[in-house]
Amino acid sequence: MAALSTVSALVVLIIACAAGVRATEVRSTFADENPIRQVVSDGLRELETTVLRVIGQTRHARTFARFAHRYGKRYETADEMKHRFSIFLESLETIRSHNKKGLSYTLGVNEFSDMTFEEFSKQKLGAAQNCSATKSGNHKLTDVVLPLTQDWRKTGIVSPVKNQGSCGSCWTFSTTGALEAAYAQAFGKSVSLSEQQLVDCARDFNNFGCNGGLPSQAYEYIKYNGGLDTEESYPYTGKDGVCKYKSENAAVKVIDSVNITMGAEDELKHAVGVVRPVSVAFQVINGFHQYTGGVFTSDVCGNDPMDVNHAVVAVGYGVENGVPYWLIKNSWGADWGLNGYFKMEMGKNMCGVATCASYPVVA
Ligand SMILES: *[C@@H]1O[C@H](CO)[C@@H](O)[C@H](O)[C@H]1NC(C)=O
Ligand SMILES: *[C@@H]1O[C@H](CO)[C@@H](O)[C@H](O)[C@H]1NC(C)=O
Repeated sequence: MAALSTVSALVVLIIACAAGVRATEVRSTFADENPIRQVVSDGLRELETTVLRVIGQTRHARTFARFAHRYGKRYETADEMKHRFSIFLESLETIRSHNKKGLSYTLGVNEFSDMTFEEFSKQKLGAAQNCSATKSGNHKLTDVVLPLTQDWRKTGIVSPVKNQGSCGSCWTFSTTGALEAAYAQAFGKSVSLSEQQLVDCARDFNNFGCNGGLPSQAYEYIKYNGGLDTEESYPYTGKDGVCKYKSENAAVKVIDSVNITMGAEDELKHAVGVVRPVSVAFQVINGFHQYTGGVFTSDVCGNDPMDVNHAVVAVGYGVENGVPYWLIKNSWGADWGLNGYFKMEMGKNMCGVATCASYPVVA
């Protein structure tokens, strides 16, 4: 069952993800050989001086300096800085014209604002994926009346937002996010679980480390492998590595996993409404990476299993200004979006949010 190892299986079963760029500390802004005086400081003022010297006293130059400071950007040369500034200006224009339309969601400057979406995609998004193993799911609907809104964060079982860095490991964060919630729900205490173990060790289950994977296949791996270590005992490096799993460190076991029938948002709503947070995948498209709030919606993204390219965790749902939405936990750090979360329109399988969903059973 998990032994699909043909080249086509390699190509189709991966969710290689949109990765957050870790904000590094601001250090040396230029290489030594650069004619411009090297800036070795964490000071905004110094950076601003450098930026103004390189790009001139133009409109938005100071905004760009604050941006570069805030996100710890390192531009190796003056040309690179000018290039990033020009992309930043385009991002500002995209944001301004989007927000002017008064749609259900807003865009804003974030750590990705000096990258084109093409660059973002190339570095952070993988090929289109295929998770059609969930074509017929095993989630059981019941007659229970669903709550009108749900937010599992209020019950204290949702763990803090993490940051996957620049590794296509979203699927491991989607897995640990749902598992940490399941564990807290079942045992009444919190735990932080190892993404790196999944990156390094879950390849026999059609997962590919920093090149992607699927939460449902990660649950299968954990189930058959005996357990998942804690974050502390098997810390995250954000790089592919050799498997170092020790079963005696296993903190959580997966007894079973439940797949939502492909595209069945009613099943997903039932699961998120009355069971617990659920791993979901969707298609990240241009614009989404600069989301800052509101209910994301698009008539461009697809919901085919071959479209989804990012895995996350649905932790609730609600209605905002008359638009129903999923409340979703991302893995691009707590600084991204709504404190690390976003809202996605509910009821249209928007961007494939119900195409590839599953959740673990731990007790
Ligand atoms: C997706 O996977 C299913 C089942 O493995 C397969 O039947 C289908 O052809 C695949 N679709 C594509 C576009 O590769
Ligand atoms: C859920 O989907 C995964 C693949 O994504 C599959 O390996 C697993 O067998 C499915 N589980 C059930 C109970 O059908």
